Amino acid sequence: MRLKNSSEQFGIIAKYLHWLIAAGIFTLLFLGIEQSDMERGDAKNYIRFIHGSVATVVLMLMTARLFWRFVSPPPGHPDGIPNWQRTSSTLVHWGLYICVFVQLSAGAMVIGTAGKGLPMFGFFSIPLPVEENHDNHEWWEGIHEFMWRPLAALIVLHVLAALYNHFIVKNNVLRRMTIGTK
Ligand code: HEM
Ligand code: HEM
Repeated sequence: MRLKNSSEQFGIIAKYLHWLIAAGIFTLLFLGIEQSDMERGDAKNYIRFIHGSVATVVLMLMTARLFWRFVSPPPGHPDGIPNWQRTSSTLVHWGLYICVFVQLSAGAMVIGTAGKGLPMFGFFSIPLPVEENHDNHEWWEGIHEFMWRPLAALIVLHVLAALYNHFIVKNNVLRRMTIGTK
């Protein structure tokens, strides 16, 4: 199996990064929403700590993914995809990158403006060059509490498009991001 993407297939590195990050983002959405209804206390703080640690890993993987995308550009659209779907798929993919990076940055700023560093499951914490500031903290919290909604909406569209291509159009779009095509 090849490491790099070809003009028709995703390589193994892009596939692993895609699925690890997707699993991380689903976990972050679940933990983030779960803790938002909880009373202040140890349990809420613990979920936030795990949420922040998973997010730090996703931040590293996303940075690697963006770098890898320049080293090894993704394959072009498969043949037979209508123009409007080519354009909307490109827009949704870039929308996903933008929403994920804004959400990651806002989360990091929520932590940084509280005077803390990015957590890493208690092993270490990565200091941020950000000053503690209550007003800025509230502002970034507002962004973080809003931004997951457009992100989740784009993920729903993205998943529906993948399933539509696989089950209705019956092309290779889902296979080339998973088991590959012959
Ligand atoms: C793609 C990445 C991320 C997603 C999808 C995500 C998702 C969420 C969600 C859905 C909430 C609940 C918001 C609400 O109450 O309405 C939340 C809260 C929170 N997240 Fe994230 N998050 C991400 C990245 C991060 C990062 C990088 C950090 C910091 C290391 C972080 C720290 C926090 C904190 C401290 C809260 C609780 C404060 C608050 O309510 O705003 N998150 N996150
Ligand atoms: C948090 C969840 C997800 C995010 C942020 C995400 C993001 C992306 C992005 C940015 C791409 C463009 C390729 C690249 O630049 O690497 C992509 C491709 C793809 N994703 Fe996802 N994805 C997620 C979840 C899923 C899920 C659950 C599925 C399957 C049901 C899926 C199926 C695909 C497929 C089939 C492609 C290849 C599309 C093509 O060949 O043009 N993704 N994804």
